[in-house]
Amino acid sequence: MTIGVSMLVGSSRAGSLNERLAKAIERLAPKELVFERVKIDDLPFCDADLEKSPPEQVLRLKATLDRNPAAFFVMPEFNRSLPAVLKNAIDIGSRPMAANSWRGKVVAMTGASPGAIGTAVGQQHLRQILSVIGANVMAGEAYISFSQPDLIADDGHIENESTRAFIQAYVDRFAEFAQRLCDQ
Ligand code: FNR
Repeated sequence: MTIGVSMLVGSSRAGSLNERLAKAIERLAPKELVFERVKIDDLPFCDADLEKSPPEQVLRLKATLDRNPAAFFVMPEFNRSLPAVLKNAIDIGSRPMAANSWRGKVVAMTGASPGAIGTAVGQQHLRQILSVIGANVMAGEAYISFSQPDLIADDGHIENESTRAFIQAYVDRFAEFAQRLCDQ
């Protein structure tokens, strides 16, 4: 069975480490996971007025989330939290409450930063938010500290064997988790 996975990357910066990490995940994932990138950097700021007559970008976001039973977040940490662009997308996806696109979603996350604790604190915030809005967040953690600038190549190739094995194991575990929950 294939499973659609919305891929949300919390940085659109040119040369983004997290974009490279997202590509690595897409390369390493088993073929059962079919990733769809979610564009979030052109969304308006969330407020309740958006629900009255949602603009095209909002409808596009919700439609993408709704057609995929799973979602995967790859994000930097900004001041020990998640980047605002990602929080905005999460908030928009959660409304209207009766059509919360996150409810029951099968979710995992990871993130990269040059810092020693590679997004650990930011991911805790993300985990807490997703739990509140009803997503099924996979237990376990994966923090990537970009100790060397070329740890992951632009195309997502990982030369370093232990880093590749670490990410592979995490993605495989997500595939197994998603299969189990989406089968129910
Ligand atoms: C950062 N950065 C950062 N790094 C970190 O490990 N913990 C943090 O709390 C922060 N805070 C933070 C705030 C802001 C506003 C910026 C712009 C940056 C550094 C950040 O991890 C680094 O710029 C990454 O390279 C960003 O990810 P991308 O864009 O390369 O994917």
